[in-house]
Formats: sequence, structure tokens, C-alpha cells
Amino acid sequence: MSLRSEPQPPKHTCEKADQYMARLVWLHAQPLVPSRQYRMRTAASEATATVTEIKHREDIATGARLAAKTVGQNEFALVNLSTSMELAMVGGVDKSGFVLLDALGREVLGAGRIEFALRRASNIQWQALGLNKAARAFQKKQVPRCIWFTGLSGSGKSTLASLLEKRLHALGRHTYLLDGDNVRHGLNRDLGFTDADRVENIRRVAEVAKLMVDAGLVVLVSFISPFRSERRMARGLFAQGEFIEVFVDTPLEACERRDVKGLYAKARRGELKNFTGIDSPYEPPESPQVRVRTTDAPPEVCVEQIIDVLD
Ligand code: ADX
Repeated sequence: MSLRSEPQPPKHTCEKADQYMARLVWLHAQPLVPSRQYRMRTAASEATATVTEIKHREDIATGARLAAKTVGQNEFALVNLSTSMELAMVGGVDKSGFVLLDALGREVLGAGRIEFALRRASNIQWQALGLNKAARAFQKKQVPRCIWFTGLSGSGKSTLASLLEKRLHALGRHTYLLDGDNVRHGLNRDLGFTDADRVENIRRVAEVAKLMVDAGLVVLVSFISPFRSERRMARGLFAQGEFIEVFVDTPLEACERRDVKGLYAKARRGELKNFTGIDSPYEPPESPQVRVRTTDAPPEVCVEQIIDVLD
């Protein structure tokens, strides 16, 4: 009697990875911006993805490598990509094709091919440390939160955030205030006001706020944060109910009339480029937890409005 092995099903390699080097072509009129969240779709799976680095743009005609901060429509680039979870790729990761869509997965923005997986993340594990957010919050007798102020320059974000912090402090809360102007002097001193820099500005401060919430604090964040997509990203870092978006809804005309820092006048004279509300967009929140109108009510009343939704 012969020992014959049963016929084996054909072998499919299926690899997993969450960081890749990839070549892509950008198709959308709004350029690709590093740190912004997109959806990456392959034949077998899909996840949230960000471009962590643009290695270079590629001139298809000459093969020249061009330095780039963003990738415009019909431009090619070599980039590093990172996905929120490991993607399984049938037939192996290398050379897998993919498309990039907007964060909600509605529209195709770009397409590309993975050159190879980067093995970085697999060597860095999340340290599960003994103490956790609940233990730290319990000791502070409070619910950690991120209170996120968004609005035009001069809308009153810093005034309200600072007043709210004082009120919370007086109520025995452990707080910290992250203010755009101040954080830009230190952690984010390398960033300017292009769309790409603002996206990175918000990514960093959102991550810092997340760490502070993990430390058990009530964190107040006061940044223009002009883009919906990055505010959505920030919200996504927090647990349900932890992120409170406060829209400081002061009309442009009122901000410009106040012009405390004289920046609107400079922007109107053309001495300051990419100024929010003048030649750089502000996308108002669609459904903030709180909307305060500083032209209708004094700061103390606006702050009470915020405290009301906290308890
Ligand atoms: S954000 O758009 O990236 O969120 P952020 O809140 O950090 O902005 O910084 C805004 C502050 O920087 C403004 O209050 C203003 O004082 C100053 N500033 C300087 N240049 C600009 C500009 N081009 N647009 C907006 N604010 C500017």
C-alpha cells in the first residue's frame, strides 16, 4: 500500500503590514497632505491611512526626483504610508495595488502600488503600563476630557478657554490649557500656516491632548483648527463623550473689527499670506457640542454655556 499524500489546495501567501513605502499618483484637485487621514483600500482590506512622509515627487518625463511638501493633481510621488491597523494582502504585501479615498471612503483621491512593507511598527510595542486612565482620573476625582475650541483668529477662543480653565480650577478640577500661539513657540515652532503645516499642527496637539487626557486631566485646546477633517481626526483619538467641540462663532467682520493683534490689517495689506478667513479657508463645525456667540453674550455667559454641557 503506497502512502500517497492528499492533493494540497493551492497556497496563497497572505501577509500583513501597517507601514509601507509606496508609489502613487494623486488624482484630486486638493493636494495630498502628510498627516491627513485618508482611507486606503486594497483588493482584500481597507483601513484609515496617513502619509507619514513624502520621500520625493517624481517627474515622469525625466525621472527626476523633486522635493515636495504636498502632492498635487496628476503628480507622482514616492511616500511612506501608515495604516491604523494591519492590512492583509493576498499574494503578499509587496507590489499590491491600492487606492486612497477621503476619510469617509466616498471619493477616490489617488492610486498606487506598495513597493515594500516597512517593518518598523512590528518592533515597537505599546507598553501596557500598570496604571491606567481610570486610576489616574479616580485619584483626581474627575472625568478626563478634551475641550476643543475652534474659531477664527480673534474670535475669542483664548479668552474663553482661559476663563473656563480658571472656573474649572476653582471647582477643584485638574486642568491644562494648550493654546495655538503658545504651542507654536515650542513643540510646533517648526510649523507655519500652509495647509500642510496646519494639518501637522493639529495632529501634534491632538496627540498631546490625548496623552494629557490619559493622564487624567481636563485639557482645553484653543487652536483655529480650520479644517473639518483634522477636527474629526482629533475627535477620533478620544473615547465617546470625552471630546467636546466648542465653536466660537464670531463672524469674520467682528474679528476683523477687533483685530487685537493687528494681523487682519496686515493680511488685507497683503503683508501676511495664508491668513485664515482672508486667503486661507475656515470650515465651520456642522454639529459642535457647544456654539457660543461672543457678539451676543459676555465671556462669563459663554463659559457657563460650556460648563453646562460638562456636568
Ligand atoms: S491653526 O490654523 O494651525 O490651528 P493656530 O491656532 O495654531 O492656527 O495659530 C493661530 C494664531 O497664529 C493666530 O491666532 C495668529 O495670532 C497667528 N497667525 C500668524 N499667522 C497666521 C495666519 N496666516 N493665519 C492664521 N493665524 C496666524
